[in-house]
Amino acid sequence: MIVAHGALVRIIGDIKTIGLSPCWDTVCRVRGIEWGQHKLVDSTTVRPAGKAMNISRALAWMGRRHTAAGLWGGEDIRQAERALRALRQWVRLALTEAPGATRRNVTVVDTLNRREMHLRNVSELATGASLKRLGMHLRTMVRRADACVFAGMMPDQLLAADVDRVIQTCRAKGAAVAVDTSGPALQRIVDGGGLWLIKPNVAELCELVGQDLADRAAPLAKAAAGLLENVEVVLVTRGAGGAVLVTRDGVWQGRVVGRRKAAYTVGCGDYFLAGFLDAVAAGKTPAEALAPALAAGTARAWSLAETTTWQQAYQAIATRITPISGR
Ligand SMILES: Nc1ncnc2c1ncn2[C@@H]1O[C@H](COP(=O)(O)OP(=O)(O)OP(=O)(O)O)[C@@H](O)[C@H]1O
Ligand SMILES: [Mg+2]
Repeated sequence: MIVAHGALVRIIGDIKTIGLSPCWDTVCRVRGIEWGQHKLVDSTTVRPAGKAMNISRALAWMGRRHTAAGLWGGEDIRQAERALRALRQWVRLALTEAPGATRRNVTVVDTLNRREMHLRNVSELATGASLKRLGMHLRTMVRRADACVFAGMMPDQLLAADVDRVIQTCRAKGAAVAVDTSGPALQRIVDGGGLWLIKPNVAELCELVGQDLADRAAPLAKAAAGLLENVEVVLVTRGAGGAVLVTRDGVWQGRVVGRRKAAYTVGCGDYFLAGFLDAVAAGKTPAEALAPALAAGTARAWSLAETTTWQQAYQAIATRITPISGR
């Protein structure tokens, strides 16, 4: 796998998704429900999730072999391995066991009234000890020029130094580090520098730069360009509005052609990032990887990721990419 890296080209050995706050997602579908009612659900699905695992699932859909790493609760790790067995052709599992159970999140989908409810628990897997263990695990498995993708909620700020050490371990191994998180953790990690990629949405970028930015390409690109000393590639996603890519080599905006009502608004960023990583791993430049990233995010929004192959979805979704300025 080859990464265009400024003027340089670098070989990427493997993509490793790394989740520090994973979860089980339970999704119950029911035709109409109100507070206080008892109803039989039409279907319930339970699966290993969290942003890093969602990126893994998207990469598997694209046929990209890679490694899923990060923390998982020792009490339910065998259950997770069983649940992920269907993906084993593409996903090499290298999870680090942490004491306790992985949190369980619940989504209730009311299919009659087309509305959803998301119940979230706090993840308690990250501790000084479990992060140390993860760091040691990564030290043995990360290879030079791997892409290490830290995605999802970061542990409490009290564990900041432990998290930073884990990221530093990957960097010290010569990996390209990508981060998709938010809030003070994103701020701190970006301030630490030496990153390959971040993927904030507009709200996350506003928080990161401390400005109330208009959702237009020019101000987003200008704000993102201010981060290039610390990050090589900044991908700002704008929901249905597409995305802006800012690198040291140039700035591009992209969006899909045509609109449809979105079936999903959560998880699109994970598919977008997977689309970008898959294309870069296949030897595309960041600018060339923008179109597949947009197509993958949109495939999730339009629920094509469940019903078609990645090749079919990519062919069916037209994108328009425009350079904003050369640098
Ligand atoms: N309603 C939509 N219609 C078409 N494409 C969409 C829509 N929402 C998102 N996308 C696609 O997915 C990409 C990422 O979406 P978004 O900006 O919502 O990410 P996000 O806020 O990080 O999402 P999450 O963190 O929930 O995964 C967009 O750049 C776009 O390509
Ligand atoms: Mg996101």
